[in-house]
Amino acid sequence: KPIVVHTREELLKELRALEERGVSLALVPTMGYLHEGHLSLVREGAARADRVAVSIFVNPTQFGPGEDLDRYPRDLSGDVEKLDAAGAWLVYAPKSPREVYPEGFQTWVDVEGLSLGLCGGKRPGHFRGVATVVCKLLTLFRPKVALFGQKDYQQLAVIRRMARDLDLDARTEVVGMPIVREPDGLAMSSRNAYLSADERRRALSLHRGLYAARALHEAGERDPARLIGAARDAMAGDVDRIDYVELVDADSLETVERVEDPVCLLVAAFVGRTRLIDNLVVGR
Ligand code: PAJ
Repeated sequence: KPIVVHTREELLKELRALEERGVSLALVPTMGYLHEGHLSLVREGAARADRVAVSIFVNPTQFGPGEDLDRYPRDLSGDVEKLDAAGAWLVYAPKSPREVYPEGFQTWVDVEGLSLGLCGGKRPGHFRGVATVVCKLLTLFRPKVALFGQKDYQQLAVIRRMARDLDLDARTEVVGMPIVREPDGLAMSSRNAYLSADERRRALSLHRGLYAARALHEAGERDPARLIGAARDAMAGDVDRIDYVELVDADSLETVERVEDPVCLLVAAFVGRTRLIDNLVVGR
């Protein structure tokens, strides 16, 4: 069973003992309600370091007003069971935001350009919250590797940039991992728990949209507007609101005039009250 710690003091004690013994560490930051996507990161961490630590913290600073902070799903004991099976060594699960953001907290990490568009445009302040908490976690754990999913493509780009800019990459290699999907193609997400049976069926249209665009790309289409149009058309009847469908350079996340590989097609849409995201890299 993994060690479960709730406070920074308990965590530092365990980390110091590990460091003295020269044992290497992988870190997987999460917000809990774990699924196979998270567990794939844990398993890769176990392959790349002696021990894997997982943080479980629903980080309030990355949620905007009116978002799902209050109803975000939680199941710590279920998560610990899954992490046991996946071979995790330690779980850091702060019991309250105060543990992470002490009285008087006033220091923020803002990754400027990469945070502006896509989800950052629709969720102002979101990536400031993400970058700040991930910076704190990387600083605390000082892991050899930190693993993140490509499911949150822009988040991964923001974290890579921050790690480079703040020299966190001197100690920690940031590793991006492929999207884990349900058998029918739906990208795994803790938020899928919100979906009714009908919404679950309609949610599949994000995946359908991405693959419709990819099929067009494989047939030779290089006009971003047409590829985006194909994805939108495939989603139109099923989602309740499209937040965005965009095609960007896979590394800079800047919009492209014409598709020169590799590019990433990203979608965000509401099915009922649930906001879902998905993406597909084309040409890499
Ligand atoms: P969370 O949504 O719990 O995701 C934790 C990690 O799991 C992220 O790196 C995410 O990209 C990855 N992940 C989620 N679904 C995945 C899937 N289907 N396939 C592969 N990887 C997947 O992302 C966050 O938490 C937070 O923003 C966090 C980074 C922890 C900062 O609070």
